[in-house]
Amino acid sequence: MPSKIFFRLDGQVAVVTGAAQGIGKAIAERLAAAGARIATLDLNLETAQRVAAAIGGMAARCDVSNADSIGAALDEVRQQLGPIDILVNNAGIAGRVLPLWELAEEDLDRVYAVNLKGVFLMCRSVIGEMIERHYGRIINVASIAGKEGNPSLIPYSSTKAAVIGLTKSLAKEVASKGDLTVNSISPAVIHTPILDDIPESTRDYMLSRIPMGRMGTVEEVAALVHFLASKEASFTTGQCYDISGGRATY
Ligand SMILES: NC(=O)c1ccc[n+]([C@@H]2O[C@H](COP(=O)([O-])OP(=O)(O)OC[C@H]3O[C@@H](n4cnc5c(N)ncnc54)[C@H](O)[C@@H]3O)[C@@H](O)[C@H]2O)c1
Repeated sequence: MPSKIFFRLDGQVAVVTGAAQGIGKAIAERLAAAGARIATLDLNLETAQRVAAAIGGMAARCDVSNADSIGAALDEVRQQLGPIDILVNNAGIAGRVLPLWELAEEDLDRVYAVNLKGVFLMCRSVIGEMIERHYGRIINVASIAGKEGNPSLIPYSSTKAAVIGLTKSLAKEVASKGDLTVNSISPAVIHTPILDDIPESTRDYMLSRIPMGRMGTVEEVAALVHFLASKEASFTTGQCYDISGGRATY
């Protein structure tokens, strides 16, 4: 029987994108509390720096939709902290909230660039070193919208569904290459600033679909990510973990 179970991450290097606020900030704080050395990557460098300073980590400006920006940010991370053990792809945007027939092509392109291409580029940037070192944990933040489809959120819902698919494919590509897992999570409504961009009627709709009848908290999401980022979560890959108060029980 194990005497101590802590899911410790001592000495491991964790990169969290979109960590300046909301869910990403809570994930960075939780992984740091478990002993990881954190790099907070965000478009908003000043706020990312404040988060990093409070947890003894480092920050870098990064636009996850741009390969050069990612390359520069990860160079800084590797120089300051060393090779990356844990990647949490959390940065994401909601996009415009309109029915399909009122959306422009650019509305899809913008959300696609951050939510899907961003995850693709970030994974591609770290997977080589994880394969070489036979170790890695990747957690992609998808959404319940990707499993169920929220009305007036087609760019968002479809990119999150794609993130779940990307996760499953990549998990299978690396499954035999060491202790290397790739999972996604699908939160329902979580209380963060992203909701500021979503009309009240849409928020009410999303909340009404949650059997627990409440929003989730960023701490609840961070706890799930912590487990998936741990060494102990070694036989679980390609999964999409629901954190939705019972909204999607599949
Ligand atoms: N809050 C929710 O209800 C909810 C539900 C399901 C999924 N999610 C997902 O969780 C993740 C975090 O959401 P949140 O609610 O904390 O959002 P948020 O808007 O509070 O924070 C998102 C962060 O990502 C950063 N960001 C945006 N575009 C970026 C880019 N191109 N490159 C780097 N950083 C960028 C922002 O600067 C911000 O700091 C997102 O992927 C979101 O889709 C949120």
